[in-house]
Amino acid sequence: MTASDPKKELARIARDLRSYVEAEKASGIADVITPARRRGAASGSKKAALLEPVKKEVLSCQRCPLYKTKKNYVFSDGDPEARLVFIGEAPGEDEDIQGIPFVGRAGQLLTKMIEAMGLRRQDVYICNVIKCRPPNNRAPLPEEAAACKGYLLRQIEIIAPKVICCLGKHASEALLDTEVFITKIRGKEFEFNGVTLIPTYHPAYLLRNPPAKKEVWIDLKKIIKILS
Ligand code: URA
Repeated sequence: MTASDPKKELARIARDLRSYVEAEKASGIADVITPARRRGAASGSKKAALLEPVKKEVLSCQRCPLYKTKKNYVFSDGDPEARLVFIGEAPGEDEDIQGIPFVGRAGQLLTKMIEAMGLRRQDVYICNVIKCRPPNNRAPLPEEAAACKGYLLRQIEIIAPKVICCLGKHASEALLDTEVFITKIRGKEFEFNGVTLIPTYHPAYLLRNPPAKKEVWIDLKKIIKILS
């Protein structure tokens, strides 16, 4: 393996995040989150049931041309009863193949970030602004984001989490309804329909810029505090 080996780099970033959390454990901060699912399976299944018609609509959506080139619609992963929702940009190649958000390299890093927070991937809810892969992983067009936005809003309304973490510029812009510089707004607290919204860097950006993990960890700690 060379220093630039992607797997090695991913493991290094995850190791660093873990070492931050080990340090934080001493102060008790990383041991604070009770997943909503443990508060009652009945309401969990109710939210899942409420999401079903939304998912059904997505699975036959033709609101923009991306349905023609996608392999699979990518609706969500995780717990509809979660108190924390992560929102990404759009499915990439791996997600398109599997029909599950954040399962490629960026997704593996997101999973490590969640674990560094003292949670498991299945304790949070994960989705994207766009439910179909844009060709060649290009950024979503504004009209594609607009066409898909209703689904995202309904997902959020049903889940009604305590915190939304927007991963990167596109998720932040979709919910804040304005153009943003992610470097300027990351880590700040916004209010979105009664939910605390905190933008942070996208894990794909972290893979390209590992030093930014320090800022992401600050943002994740802020989220942990709010959830506790
Ligand atoms: N990037 C995203 O924004 N979403 C995914 O599901 C995967 C990569």
